[in-house]
Amino acid sequence: MNSTDFIVARHDLQQCKSIETRLPDATALPEDALLVKIDRFAFTANNITYAVLGDQLKYWQLFPAPEDFGNIPVWGFGDVIASNHPDIAIGERLFGYFPMATHLVIEAADVSKRSLRDGAAHRQGVAPVYNAYARVGGDPAFAGRQGDYQALLRPLFMLSFLVDAHLAEHEFYGARSVMLSSASSKTAFGLAHLLHTLRKDIRVIGLTSAANNDFVRSLGCYDDVVTYDRVTSSLPSDTPVALVDMAGNSELRATLHRHFGDQMKYSGRIGLTHRSSSPDEPELPGARPSWFFAPDQIRKRAKEWGPDGIDLRFGAAWSGLAPMLDRWLKITEGSGPATVKQVYLDTLNGRVPPQQGHILSLAE
Ligand SMILES: NC(=O)c1ccc[n+]([C@@H]2O[C@H](COP(=O)([O-])OP(=O)(O)OC[C@H]3O[C@@H](n4cnc5c(N)ncnc54)[C@H](OP(=O)(O)O)[C@@H]3O)[C@@H](O)[C@H]2O)c1
Repeated sequence: MNSTDFIVARHDLQQCKSIETRLPDATALPEDALLVKIDRFAFTANNITYAVLGDQLKYWQLFPAPEDFGNIPVWGFGDVIASNHPDIAIGERLFGYFPMATHLVIEAADVSKRSLRDGAAHRQGVAPVYNAYARVGGDPAFAGRQGDYQALLRPLFMLSFLVDAHLAEHEFYGARSVMLSSASSKTAFGLAHLLHTLRKDIRVIGLTSAANNDFVRSLGCYDDVVTYDRVTSSLPSDTPVALVDMAGNSELRATLHRHFGDQMKYSGRIGLTHRSSSPDEPELPGARPSWFFAPDQIRKRAKEWGPDGIDLRFGAAWSGLAPMLDRWLKITEGSGPATVKQVYLDTLNGRVPPQQGHILSLAE
């Protein structure tokens, strides 16, 4: 049996193709291994960022591909179709980090009632969150449309949730408003929703492109929406602000820091949606820009909040977000290598409308 894998050229992301790889026979699986059929996965700008940072953050090592190519990790669902592990039955449904492929062999380790881990040697040395699979069969929160929302938003909203907790813990570093770049992104509007509902005295400002202005305004969780070309003319520079930067656009960040000067109280680097990040950024006035990386924060919070501390708090936050999603997002399902390629290239080249949530499968 073969797996269909979608791979991209590591140093020229516009080049991509599907290939067939040979799978081990179900009867020849290594001890404790599972053969998983990947059923559906989400695809957003976040996956493009995984590719951009593939070398730096070791994303390419998770799902090996032929030389000079990489398989981009995606969040989604898979069903166990063969099992050599005594506690995992055929038919188990898993949620977690998968390759863009039709199949994956997982070396099941640390199997518990709710989760397992892929113990494959090549997957070690990355943050634990990338090797954990939730056993979600029969859980309505991970089924049907709710499951699609989980695949699309769970990893992104985790970041939103962690940034909200971080800023609140530090009393917003003295800022009275929070600016979010790429305000139309799912990661940004998840955070805007939390700030809007939980931090009533903080003003939430969305920065976006002219094309996405109407969408961002329609969400109702931003107090103000400003297009990138108007940031200096529209935003008063004399009140303390925090920047949560999903766009990763060096020019925009420099403009904002110079405009606000010492009033820039916090500058968190989150994403790279614009892919216009210069490796040599100058010293900027105001707070020093620093990376905020969800897996590091998850480790920190797990220690502080105890084993179930994140799940309980995140679950409460998710239940506030979930009712908004039918209005905010339109799920578009697509299958087969040609469709996956088109969605990949559209996402890479910024052609996906922000309300669209792509759920894909490589199987025809
Ligand atoms: N640090 C972490 O741990 C962490 C965790 C989660 C997410 N993130 C990052 O947050 C970012 C947002 O991810 P997402 O999945 O939420 O994004 P998304 O929903 O797919 O966001 C799409 C938006 O990004 C902007 N954009 C996308 N592609 C573009 C392009 N080629 N050119 C210009 N603008 C483009 C546009 O927003 P505008 O027009 O509004 O700019 C677009 O509406 C990603 O970089 C992701 O990696 C980081």
